Amino acid sequence: MTIPNTIKTITCIGAGYVGGPTMAVIAQKCPHIKVNVVDINPDRIAAWNDSNLNSLPVYEPGLAEVVEEARGRNLFFSTEIDDGIREAEMIFISVNTPTKDYGLGKGMAADLKYVELCARQIARVAESDKIVVEKSTLPVRTAESIRTILEAEGNGQQFKVLSNPEFLAEGTAIADLYAPDRVLIGGEQDEEGQKSIQALADIYANWVNRENIITTRLWSSELSKLTANAFLAQRISSINAISALCEKTGADVDEIARAIGADTRIGSKFLKSSVGFGGSCFQKDILNLVYLCRHFNLPEVADYWEQVVKMNDYQKHRFAKQIIDSLFNSVSGKKIAFLGWAFKKDTNDTRESAAIYVAKELMLDKAEIHVFDPKVTKERIVEDLKNVAASKAEFKAMKKLIHFHDEPYPAMNEAHAIAILTEWDEFKTYDWSSIYNNMLKPAFVFDGRNILNSAKMDELGFRYKGVGK
Ligand code: UDX
Ligand code: ADP
Repeated sequence: MTIPNTIKTITCIGAGYVGGPTMAVIAQKCPHIKVNVVDINPDRIAAWNDSNLNSLPVYEPGLAEVVEEARGRNLFFSTEIDDGIREAEMIFISVNTPTKDYGLGKGMAADLKYVELCARQIARVAESDKIVVEKSTLPVRTAESIRTILEAEGNGQQFKVLSNPEFLAEGTAIADLYAPDRVLIGGEQDEEGQKSIQALADIYANWVNRENIITTRLWSSELSKLTANAFLAQRISSINAISALCEKTGADVDEIARAIGADTRIGSKFLKSSVGFGGSCFQKDILNLVYLCRHFNLPEVADYWEQVVKMNDYQKHRFAKQIIDSLFNSVSGKKIAFLGWAFKKDTNDTRESAAIYVAKELMLDKAEIHVFDPKVTKERIVEDLKNVAASKAEFKAMKKLIHFHDEPYPAMNEAHAIAILTEWDEFKTYDWSSIYNNMLKPAFVFDGRNILNSAKMDELGFRYKGVGK
């Protein structure tokens, strides 16, 4: 197989939250490499090419500046997938890998149909040897499936498959890409595999220290990604488990987090108690891990990790129940303002956001939900509710109960309660005194992110409740 000493052209299939920002940063840091980002969705590509940088499909602090610098120079967004495949020596697969919603492994295993389609297309179209990099979060052994497809479908070209999982967190993607704790590259152990690893390492070495580029065998790399996310999510579920105990005992979960986080063996990050973690990775990756463990007949290991997800579901449910209980056991016909819909601040991504589940539970009790989020569109929210509705009738009922606001204050006017679902910084700067005056009394605030000062809120007259307080 021919592996070039230096890569001149790369193509990334999938222009989403991972592919878009990652390729933009590679293009910015490596002006000598031509970077194509291709996607089947023409609207997405049009948005990436929009001259108005506020219209990019992904909102991420700092991203617009990177795109502005590199786009048209060595960064190109297009729907011409075949051309992109032919032209590049290295192809990244960065398409979505949702949890399967049908058939074997439903609700647990990753749906690899989009990845498989990509592999088949690469095999069909390629006219020269390629290094194929799996970038999407994938369960262990996917690289092997990709390789099998490439070999079986190809026209005699040779392929090497690498695993290069993404560890960027949304909302801080650009900073994470600029200064990653580590870059992980897994590949095969033979000479060509090692050479392919080097080719990719050389790209990152344009801005990342070599010591921070870790190379492993394929499976280790794939499993490391699932393990990292499982460990991070486990910390949140652990502190959230303690938050429930705090609420019963009068201890304060933030004080506990500070106290234990000072222990260097534990560390202070990822101990923020909340209404529950969301995002496209944590739940999906843990369920993948659980599925793998069951597949390999390790039920105890599977149950251990599954509990992290169960704890998270419990936390979301507990939050919704607390709202209903506090509002005198009924929210029917009551106006509840939702501040935030995204799964965390500084992103317009809502996948698995706690807001969706809390809203659904309240709407099943007939609450009127009024949402304000600085970056999430109305269409996105409707789509989210559609995805979690048990039936068409349930979706129809929810659509009647959900209301959208472009401005925060009208969302809270004459509300019975406010629920904070996302920790957007701007929420802290609101005029809470006038909000209080314009609400029905008693005025409740359920702070699912513990971002407001409880003493101050009490002083203003609110019935304020944080998580684990
Ligand atoms: C995560 C991983 O951090 C990243 O490395 C991986 O590549 C993809 O998945 P992301 O989902 O973007 O990134 O966000 P992250 O910052 O990890 O937050 C996930 C969820 O946990 C959010 O809903 C966040 O609000 C919540 N969270 C995080 C807490 O509730 N408490 C915390 O202390 C930290
Ligand atoms: P992630 O968070 O993993 O980046 P996204 O859903 O944001 O996930 O992005 C995945 C992108 O991949 C979407 O824009 C989707 O249109 C694109 N995609 C899915 N399948 C294909 C395919 N076969 N060819 C090209 N693009 C694809």
